[in-house]
Amino acid sequence: MEQRNLDKKIAGEEAVNFIKDGMTIGLGSGSTVNWMLQKLGELVKEGLQIKGIPSSRKTERLAKELGIPLTDFSKVAKIDLAIDGADEVDDYFNLLKGGGGSLVREKIIDTAADELIIIVDGSKIVPQLGAFPLPVEVLPFGWEITATTISKLGCVPKLRKIDKEVFVSDNGNYILDCQFNAMKQPQNLHEKLKQVVGVVETGLFINIASKVIVAKHKEIEILSK
Ligand code: 5RP
Repeated sequence: MEQRNLDKKIAGEEAVNFIKDGMTIGLGSGSTVNWMLQKLGELVKEGLQIKGIPSSRKTERLAKELGIPLTDFSKVAKIDLAIDGADEVDDYFNLLKGGGGSLVREKIIDTAADELIIIVDGSKIVPQLGAFPLPVEVLPFGWEITATTISKLGCVPKLRKIDKEVFVSDNGNYILDCQFNAMKQPQNLHEKLKQVVGVVETGLFINIASKVIVAKHKEIEILSK
């Protein structure tokens, strides 16, 4: 297995050590989370009693295949622990997320949790967010004018396409990938983007994570706030 993927697996599997019997778990999205789900599925088969709330249709499908019991916000008022991936993590645990296009549901879940643990391979730890294009979920109606307004904040928004088809999120929206490069004040940028009519949510997760599990060349480091 390629080193980066192996590190994702190591970080994902480590995270299940924080899951306790009876917990409601927020299940993030992405390839690192998928490794966590595999391990969690094994623990459920051995008798661990938890319920998960998935942050994407992909996660929901995999969790069901693995026999992980699921619930939703009509049945629970809060989440004990959320475990999610990220595309970039800075020194203050600010996150850039949404590479997989699930940022809105992820943010709802991650902010509803008592604790958010982020699982990443070492390449995701950066001194400053912004090398990865920031995903911004927007309403399809008038996305062109929304993109023009966003561009005035200092980027060239690119409509996300997969195999030449416009990518549509689980919420029926579009994603604009916005290359800002070095973000000096991510919170400020997030607030400005949220003021743009047509923007549903940004991939900037500020001050939400409390732990980051990093695996680099098979070595695990658990960073806490
Ligand atoms: C999806 C996300 C993912 O958590 C993020 O893209 C990381 O993915 P991966 O673990 O596959 O590198 O934010 O919207």
